[in-house]
Amino acid sequence: MNLPRRVEPEWLDELPQADPRAVWSRRDLKRINRWMLQARIMTRLLIAALDGRTPRTLVELGAGDGTFMLALARRLAPRWRDVKVTLVDRQDIVTEHTRRAFGDLGWQVETISADIFDFLRGATPGCTDMVLANLFLHHFERDSLARLLGGAARLADAFAACEPWRAGSGLIGSRLLWAIGCNDVTRHDALASVRAGFSGRELSELWPNDEDWRLQEGPALPFTHCFLARRAGGIAS
Ligand SMILES: C[S@@+](CC[C@H](N)C(=O)[O-])C[C@H]1O[C@@H](n2cnc3c(N)ncnc32)[C@H](O)[C@@H]1O
Repeated sequence: MNLPRRVEPEWLDELPQADPRAVWSRRDLKRINRWMLQARIMTRLLIAALDGRTPRTLVELGAGDGTFMLALARRLAPRWRDVKVTLVDRQDIVTEHTRRAFGDLGWQVETISADIFDFLRGATPGCTDMVLANLFLHHFERDSLARLLGGAARLADAFAACEPWRAGSGLIGSRLLWAIGCNDVTRHDALASVRAGFSGRELSELWPNDEDWRLQEGPALPFTHCFLARRAGGIAS
């Protein structure tokens, strides 16, 4: 199926943070992440990217309420100790409960409330071991996305993303979300996300090609499109 990519506004981005429909939809998002196996898929990418090394720092772009990164921390804390994570999002919605949960795992957490382009402009090149994004890149049109990826490539020697796979399976899955109690906001945004998702080598084509990067891109069943970029020579330590 060859679906043209279409980016449209998502309702959750426009609702006030405390609106009950937004609160419900953020809860749905956690379930959707579980159904899509996003934490499992991203964990695999992070381990592959770091090639047996333990990172000191990770930066997540568009981290939302931080619970996706927490799910990763729960999987990775047994092998990666003392990691500091920086969660960047224009909404300030990481709860005390989530912050404490990182602490309980021995990880530190810092949150930055900023538009992603302001953050990337201000960040020091090479400031982290790895950058990641989950269900975030699909918010952006091609030109903005190329700028975003260029900014991310300056921050670290490795970058991983798990995004919606723009394919029939995602469209069908999104249309069935009512069956697990997802609200109207989630159902709208899930369909919009699949249409704005990725296929083929669309992210590789936008990744800066002025460095010696090794790129991997493709679907991960059932609903995910993965992208991994590693600078040849690996993480600077
Ligand atoms: C679908 S949510 C994903 C959140 C998280 N990564 C997860 O998987 O639970 C997308 C997030 O991107 C954030 N976002 C969208 N556009 C942004 C921008 N220009 N700058 C910073 N954050 C942005 C939204 O606030 C939202 O929290």
